[in-house]
Amino acid sequence: MNFLTTISRAGFLASIFLVPAFLSSNALADQNLPLAALGAVPVPADNPQTSAKVALGKLLFFDPRLGGDASVSCADCHAPKQGWGFADPISRGYPGAIHWRNSQTVVNAAYLGKLFWVGAAKSLEAQAPSAAKGAVSGNGEADMMEARLAFIPEYAKQFRAIFGDRWPRISSAWKAIAAFERTLIHDQTPFDKFMRGDKTALSAEQQRGLKLFQGKANCIECHNGPLLTDQKYYNLGVPRAEAWLNSGLAQITFRYEQYAKGVTEDMYRTIKDDAGLYYRTKQKRDKGKFRTPPLRYTAYSAPFMHNGSFFDFGELIEFYNQGGGTNEFSANKTKLLKPLNLSDEEKENLAAFLESLSGEEIKMQTPKLPPYAPLD
Ligand code: HEC
Ligand code: HEC
Repeated sequence: MNFLTTISRAGFLASIFLVPAFLSSNALADQNLPLAALGAVPVPADNPQTSAKVALGKLLFFDPRLGGDASVSCADCHAPKQGWGFADPISRGYPGAIHWRNSQTVVNAAYLGKLFWVGAAKSLEAQAPSAAKGAVSGNGEADMMEARLAFIPEYAKQFRAIFGDRWPRISSAWKAIAAFERTLIHDQTPFDKFMRGDKTALSAEQQRGLKLFQGKANCIECHNGPLLTDQKYYNLGVPRAEAWLNSGLAQITFRYEQYAKGVTEDMYRTIKDDAGLYYRTKQKRDKGKFRTPPLRYTAYSAPFMHNGSFFDFGELIEFYNQGGGTNEFSANKTKLLKPLNLSDEEKENLAAFLESLSGEEIKMQTPKLPPYAPLD
């Protein structure tokens, strides 16, 4: 089999039968793509990359002053040493709160058209403010953040030079952060080298894993294209964690999110698990669905899933081997998962292949941040 030209089964079927758009909540533009090496990072026309902008974005990403009480930076929940995510099942939150979902890696996020576990943001420029302002993440207020930037002379100077801002505009900060995130890419993994033609880049075990991925284990059904995601939404029956259900702090955030997302009062009081895509669409059939995540950099970004249910590839593969699980919304569980009947050796091959998608760790020290000073 020539892996370079392999089309996933779903993509192949979609190309034969034209599926009417109304049958699926996903647009036809999302048709599955073959596995491939990562290409060039897409850059929006209104935010071109420059080295000065990237350097500013890096400082802002690590700077806690873009947040309510000036103590939480992007890097606190997307820590370079924790896979550019956060190593607890549920992310840390704004002081006094915890988050309600697992923190995702920002490595390669620049390629995604749908950000967050349920695709709530469409671009990095739109994602950054919702992270910085969200009550359980940065809890920042735009005017206050702008004033803080203005009183850091080094920033004021750079905003003027890069964006022409006489007074730093918070929207420019989001552009700079997005430009920095577009440099956190990872396109030299063993998998990329293999896909570009170096047949020695994957070990024999990893090549067997790749074959299983596209064949018997059928991961390719949803994890396809260069990012290994179709960016569609499924309920796999990921179980909820009892520790989460029994934690007061976690439940406060969870109820708060129900309220913020505008569910019925009955649901606000009684719901016991994250309803996922439902919060955006309010369609019953979307309860418990989450966006297929990319599989790149996952060797560094455990635990896995929207609620951090699985701590390593072994647990995760066992979950799929059993055909997924059951949760409160199992009526919506995808029919695409079935028991796989993988042998121990096959499970190891699959895990070895997943490793090949991660390559070298992207390391970075916290930069020295410029100080406040009064205006001249
Ligand atoms: C308090 C923790 C916290 C802070 C602070 C935080 N994040 Fe996040 N981030 C998360 C969590 C948790 C998610 C997943 C949330 C969800 O999907 O509901 C996430 C998701 C993301 C994603 C989406 C990745 C993907 O695969 O879709 C990006 C990009 C991101 N954050 C960037 C940032 C940036 C930039 C900042 C600073 C402006 C920031 N985050 C601040 C916790 C945090
Ligand atoms: C029906 C679509 C589908 C199939 C088939 C599928 N996945 Fe997934 N995968 C998903 C979705 C959706 C999630 C996120 C689920 C959640 O958080 O509730 C996910 C999550 C993951 C994650 C966690 C990534 C992270 O950042 O947390 C890994 C790793 C993974 N899948 C690997 C696999 C492997 C290996 C296979 C084949 C054995 C496979 N998947 C088959 C849809 C699928």
